[in-house]
Amino acid sequence: MIAVELRYKPEELTRLPRSVRYEKGKVIMIDQTLLPREFRTIELTTVDEVADAIVTMKVRGAPAIGTAAAFGLALYADTAKAKTKDEFMDGFYSAYDRLKNTRPTAVNLFWALNRIKKLVEEYLESPLEEIKRLIVAEAQKIADEDVEANLRMGHYGAEVLPEGNVLTHCNAGSLATVQLGTVGAVLRVMHRDGNLKLLWVDETRPVLQGARLSAWEYHYDGIPLKLITDNMAGFVMQQGKVDAIIVGADRIVANGDFANKIGTYSLAVLAKEHGIPFFTVAPLSTIDMSLKSGKEIPIEERKPEEVLTCGGCKIAPDVDVYNPAFDVTPHKYLTGIITDRGVVWPPFERNLKRLFNNLG
Ligand code: MRU
Repeated sequence: MIAVELRYKPEELTRLPRSVRYEKGKVIMIDQTLLPREFRTIELTTVDEVADAIVTMKVRGAPAIGTAAAFGLALYADTAKAKTKDEFMDGFYSAYDRLKNTRPTAVNLFWALNRIKKLVEEYLESPLEEIKRLIVAEAQKIADEDVEANLRMGHYGAEVLPEGNVLTHCNAGSLATVQLGTVGAVLRVMHRDGNLKLLWVDETRPVLQGARLSAWEYHYDGIPLKLITDNMAGFVMQQGKVDAIIVGADRIVANGDFANKIGTYSLAVLAKEHGIPFFTVAPLSTIDMSLKSGKEIPIEERKPEEVLTCGGCKIAPDVDVYNPAFDVTPHKYLTGIITDRGVVWPPFERNLKRLFNNLG
């Protein structure tokens, strides 16, 4: 992988604070369900509250979910009343299970929880206070590394995306990560470089992460954008108004297939028809080399209310609903995968394997 020069610092790319952070005994996060009406930070003091915040999407986006779950374990470590190590470990595994059973598709959740579990199991012979300290420190490290990874992806991505108009779907921005975003970092570096003419933002039904969150955060940072409904994207491409498409990922598997917000697959097919480069951008923590193809990715189905209502208003009669939160885009539609270790080009199966082998 070629080295990339990090020309900007995070604070030169966004005015937004970290979307999720930890202070002794509390997980502090921006409540994303309230945006764009209200910017409110909430403080969670129990593992149950953190798990609930993930399920109800107060915090959402693959890396932000992973970091919030890691902070959930830190919260457990700092607040556990257990007197013995055995008691502490029983509680630790309950907290781990509670956080793990929240959302099934984004692999970062399992990656972050397992990273801490592995560390705890390695240091099981250490004094209890030391184990607690290690958990909190590791969770903070996961958060700091996420910002650093985004900064790298931003610079790598800005080198390969063409100058002009870019279209994005859902929110893979600062709010979906600790800060900056995956897609968000690429867009922010392009914007700073003067290479992003216009950002097309898909509204992203049913939960409207594009309209509520992406439009809000990119507008906040002064990025020129136009909001469109999802069904307008094809026409905008046909009109020659899109030079590249860039989306996030919830799980990329060994052959390059990837799951992302429902609607991503349709965009990928349309991009191919119109000869538009189509990139996904994600840290290595989103890549699940244990699955061979996208068919194996578990796809979350969410409540019918998300489809039957819009902004709290009923928009359909009480009929049956199918509400998959994600779809799978086959790797044949992908131009490249922008990671924090460089850009992976086709053939993805071979080059993803090489990337992981080279990590040592
Ligand atoms: O259901 P969500 O809002 O958690 O889905 C988010 C996405 O699909 C994002 O594109 C993905 O998590 C990447 S976030 C950097």
